[in-house]
Amino acid sequence: MLTTLGAARRHADLLVRSGTVVTPEGSVEADIACVDGRIVSLDARGWSASEVVEADGLHVLPGVIDTQVHFREPGLEHKENLEAGTRGAVLGGVTAVFEMPNTRPTTLHRADLERKIAAASGRAWCDVAFYIGGSSVNAGELGHLETLPGCAGVKVFMGSSFGDLLADDDAVLRQILAHGRRRVAVHAEDEARLRERRPIVEASGDVRDHGRWRDVDSAINATRRMVGMAAETGRPLHILHVSTAEEMAFLASHRNRVTVEVLPHHLTLCAPECYERLGTLAQMNPPVRDARHREALWRALREGTVDVLGSDHAPHTLEEKSRPYPQSPSGMPGVQTLLPVMLDHVSRGRLSLRRLVELTSAAPARVFGMAGKGSIAVGYDADLTLVDLKATREITNRWIASVCGWTPYDGMRVTGWPLATIVRGHVVMHEDVVLGHPMGQPVRFGRA
Ligand code: DOR
Repeated sequence: MLTTLGAARRHADLLVRSGTVVTPEGSVEADIACVDGRIVSLDARGWSASEVVEADGLHVLPGVIDTQVHFREPGLEHKENLEAGTRGAVLGGVTAVFEMPNTRPTTLHRADLERKIAAASGRAWCDVAFYIGGSSVNAGELGHLETLPGCAGVKVFMGSSFGDLLADDDAVLRQILAHGRRRVAVHAEDEARLRERRPIVEASGDVRDHGRWRDVDSAINATRRMVGMAAETGRPLHILHVSTAEEMAFLASHRNRVTVEVLPHHLTLCAPECYERLGTLAQMNPPVRDARHREALWRALREGTVDVLGSDHAPHTLEEKSRPYPQSPSGMPGVQTLLPVMLDHVSRGRLSLRRLVELTSAAPARVFGMAGKGSIAVGYDADLTLVDLKATREITNRWIASVCGWTPYDGMRVTGWPLATIVRGHVVMHEDVVLGHPMGQPVRFGRA
């Protein structure tokens, strides 16, 4: 119907002209016409339009979706807020984000979710969905909570990271898995082992021991436990920020039930060099590990064990980060640098542009059952990220919109840069400048 309507009018609200459009079929030269926030034609040569974006020499990607960000609102706005977080997102070419529940208060109940949706209205520059935290206090209600509009699903912290959300007990985890049907996103670090090993870093005070404290067994033990429980209950899982070779080998044999996320941080930074250069700025959970693990993540990505790239944007202020380790909080910002850093990997031949698009658009939409997103297709939301694969730029703290004001990649030169971000037909970023007003809406999900 949309096509017919568009063809009759041959006038678009927005025309993205002469770009190399990355579709599931491959890259094609095409003009994209958008009406009422949706794509109505990929064959729009000769159409008139109220607004035209010239994409000559640029690649037009489906809007980048980041399914793991911490925007800290409510309660921790000195680190980040929904306006600045989403502004960073669109400056980095991201058109939709899923926000995490370890805010203050934590997102556990309907009212918490609705408060976040209301806070994003008129302030979010891209579309947003919010996770509900899975915990002993709300386990029985999760089947209902996960179906609420704007809910990305359930997130479980098996190990303490930042904030008060924790579900480390098998009985509670089983209860969480038993209530609901959607894919459960999991931070898999084993709390008992983390407690047992904490004295290592209390004694050394050395951030280079971060990966010794939160070691491979902390990660693989938790991942094994959770995958085992999910098999018992028949629940699909999404294991967030997988950081070890051992987990990748294990997860490769559980692909029927489990989807896998990796982060640009774990693919780009490497221990011990990152801790020597960046100190506690490189401290995150699970930790950035050594070259053996980094190589295994790249191999898993190339071999198809990895589904999704997320940023785990987790800002803390420089003042907080400068506390003596291990009192320094874990987490690094990343929503704004996800695409530039990964495009640089593309330019170095480490993955193809097509695979990157799969990891940042099509797969997040498929894994989480998003409606109308993840592909450049007639009838889909007009979410588009225009990139110049040849542009070489420097990532700097000055460019970062986050309230925290820093990035671990300050001073890094990258090849490949987002030149424009379009959210449901609105051009919200062009050449590093944010345009218009924040018109982000809650992400819609299909129902199985
Ligand atoms: O390093 C981390 N920081 N990992 C997490 O899982 C949480 C995050 C945060 O919220 O700061």
